[in-house]
Amino acid sequence: MAVAVAAFTVIADEAPAGNPLAGEPGAVAAGEALFSSMNCDGCHGGGGSGWVGPSLADGRWRFGGDADALFHSIANGRPHGMPAYGELLPENSIWQLVSYLQQLRAPFGVPTRHWP
Ligand code: HEC
Repeated sequence: MAVAVAAFTVIADEAPAGNPLAGEPGAVAAGEALFSSMNCDGCHGGGGSGWVGPSLADGRWRFGGDADALFHSIANGRPHGMPAYGELLPENSIWQLVSYLQQLRAPFGVPTRHWP
């Protein structure tokens, strides 16, 4: 629980103004639930740690890690295998997913953490 509280504090302090749910209580938890129920974790791994889809937790982004870029990735998809969810999820749910992704941190010792 301490981890969740700490993560939430990071969101409140650092989330770009682009996410209308920045700092909103429950947004991260709702996004985490969606990440599992929408099967994001089936491709991106538990906690977004990477599987057949790229890691979403290592701080490296192909298409940008700010709120608007993340929203775009989820809503419109990306060319090499990322499905578009804009017709499946209301905007509010996509922002919840953005809130969740923005507070993910790679655990220490993950080898990809230091890749260029
Ligand atoms: C069928 C497998 C699959 C599913 C399901 C999937 N993704 Fe992806 N996702 C990918 C792949 C593959 C890429 C890389 C696309 C590329 O490089 O063009 C990607 C890219 C992304 C990116 C951009 C990453 C970057 O580095 O910029 C985000 C954000 C993302 N996915 C979030 C999600 C979320 C949130 C969900 C659930 C709503 C989801 N994905 C579901 C396969 C998937």
